[in-house]
Amino acid sequence: MTRPHEVPLFDTAVTRLFGIRHPILCGGLMWLSTAPYVAAAARAGGIGFITARSFPDMGAFRAELQTCRELAGGNPFGVNLYLSNRESENAILERHVDVLLDEGVRAVETAGNAPGVLLPRLKEAGCTVLHKVSILKHAERAVRDGADAIAIVGMECGGHPGLDFIGSMVQGTLAPMRLGVPVVLGGGIGTGRQVVAALAMGAAGVILGTRMLVSEEIRAHEDYKRRIVAADERSSRLVLGILRNTYRVMDNTAARTVAAIEATGETDFEAYRPYVQGTAARRVYTTGDTDEGMLAMGQAAVFADSLAPVAAIYDELLADAATALDTVRRVSPVMA
Ligand SMILES: Cc1cc2nc3c(=O)[nH]c(=O)nc-3n(C[C@H](O)[C@H](O)[C@H](O)COP(=O)(O)O)c2cc1C
Repeated sequence: MTRPHEVPLFDTAVTRLFGIRHPILCGGLMWLSTAPYVAAAARAGGIGFITARSFPDMGAFRAELQTCRELAGGNPFGVNLYLSNRESENAILERHVDVLLDEGVRAVETAGNAPGVLLPRLKEAGCTVLHKVSILKHAERAVRDGADAIAIVGMECGGHPGLDFIGSMVQGTLAPMRLGVPVVLGGGIGTGRQVVAALAMGAAGVILGTRMLVSEEIRAHEDYKRRIVAADERSSRLVLGILRNTYRVMDNTAARTVAAIEATGETDFEAYRPYVQGTAARRVYTTGDTDEGMLAMGQAAVFADSLAPVAAIYDELLADAATALDTVRRVSPVMA
């Protein structure tokens, strides 16, 4: 029997731009979006992004791209390049670009600071570049600099929701009205009915993070995934606003400790470092001790209700989207 992920349901500017079957993208996930997961998204008809910063050196990064290519079965996949606001941490990105171009990758998700410095080289080499933002103002600049598409995330998202806390309903409606390039909406999305809603708002696709954390292909401890399954829409919290680097994470012991330090008015990063450094999260993914680090996670955790292969999650999203389309037609007899 044909499965939903095997058949295109939507033809959008984003499916055409990336040459994919479904306008459902899997955003980069630090430490987690490695070859098995990203290749599974590619085979399911979407596209995922390997986080370049997750690898200790260029050799390991190159090897991961090669593994992904082998596993992706000829389907496109991409790389996530995160631009830090600490300039000294961005020199490495040029080397990541050398490797990804050399390995034939032509889809890139940029995020964090403005991608202008990377765009000329990526565009010259024929890459499709999606720049991810939490606020429209930053999108406009990236479009002027040559980004092909914009992913805009609402404050429901896991990771960095920005400083203005604008929800996905507003972002998803406003961005397509204002920008002259295809828009992908993220933040709190974990069902097919939300995919339909995003397309109705004018987006040409969606980008998921939290919903996918329970994917079987993600290399993380089962106890961690079970905690995501148990989580609901109230299980995340915002921290680090005091450092103007707001982060939506699982509401666990580490996050509550950080919130307590924030409540004292502390503004020295060193006080937060032991909890917020990425290696703590990486350790949790290995040990499953989910209270021991700050773990990016958004409100869409409520939709992650079981451990499942990526293709099964795509099936669920697409079947739900098809039902949502029928529902809209039923409640609007004039459309039938
Ligand atoms: C565990 C986790 C790690 C993430 N790591 C990154 C990252 O390294 N780079 C990046 O651009 N976005 C990162 N994100 C953001 C996602 O790519 C995506 O934009 C976001 O999760 C979408 O919102 P959602 O969580 O509501 O689906 C991460 C998100 C999560 C949940």
